Amino acid sequence: MSDHLSEEESKALWQKIMSEVGTLPSLPEIVSKLIKELENKDTNPEALEKIIINDSSLSAKVLRIANSAYYGQSRQIDTISKAIVLMGMNTIRNLALTLASSNALNRSFDGYGLEKGQLFTHSLATAVGAGFIARNIKSDDQEKVFLAGLLHDIGKILLSPYLKKYIEVIKKIVFDEDKPFNKAEKEVFGFNHCDLGAELAIRWELPQLIVDSNKYHHDPSECKNENSKIIEYVHIADHISYLSKFGLGIDGNNYKILFETFEKYKIDDERKAKLIENVTKDTNELFKSMVVV
Ligand SMILES: [Fe+2]
Ligand SMILES: [Fe+2]
Repeated sequence: MSDHLSEEESKALWQKIMSEVGTLPSLPEIVSKLIKELENKDTNPEALEKIIINDSSLSAKVLRIANSAYYGQSRQIDTISKAIVLMGMNTIRNLALTLASSNALNRSFDGYGLEKGQLFTHSLATAVGAGFIARNIKSDDQEKVFLAGLLHDIGKILLSPYLKKYIEVIKKIVFDEDKPFNKAEKEVFGFNHCDLGAELAIRWELPQLIVDSNKYHHDPSECKNENSKIIEYVHIADHISYLSKFGLGIDGNNYKILFETFEKYKIDDERKAKLIENVTKDTNELFKSMVVV
């Protein structure tokens, strides 16, 4: 077996993987509806409520979590509209997006050494962390960062089954040549989980922000459009998620961070420790409230 795929083999594998997209658990239609609502500047609580109550099982789950200890509401919340009024559109939308994405993310991904729940919590922690960073600097993008964090690693869903065969070669590149895991993937396959995730986002008709968050989360400096700031938050939050031990798997310990991104947002050791503490707490509690539903 050769260490690297030839150009032709790489093209053939890419096509094979893409031909399998339809057979994978995908994001339910409600995710695109929630994203459209998020992108609509004239959105209002009624529009969000309408989307959620259309799906009775999702509504029930949202209500149960809204009433969980995590949100600590003193009054019983029995309708989605009350939940939106008391907890805000952003919180309820993010909750619905997370629950609706769990089918695709809350599985095991053996190629990456991830047990069931680990990619989901890693994604959730990245979303939560990106939210903290955006809030801290009072970013205008606070509503969108959660989504960009939540769906940044969807390419792993596609690459996981093919990693096993080449894992020793990839590890060798990572350790002997001190290269990041995603670069080693690219060297071996000719593409990596970032390329696959970006293509999957296009096929799932997700917005450009999700295409970019997949493509550039390991190297936000490559993103040259209006999404670049959000991708920087995702990059930092991705690292914070690993430091908080969410979804380390095979590649998490070989995460190469862009220090200039941390410096740009003044994330020194003290702020980093605070972020790790907050992300760990929120992600664990949110996840706990979700798995019992
Ligand atoms: Fe990644
Ligand atoms: Fe990640």
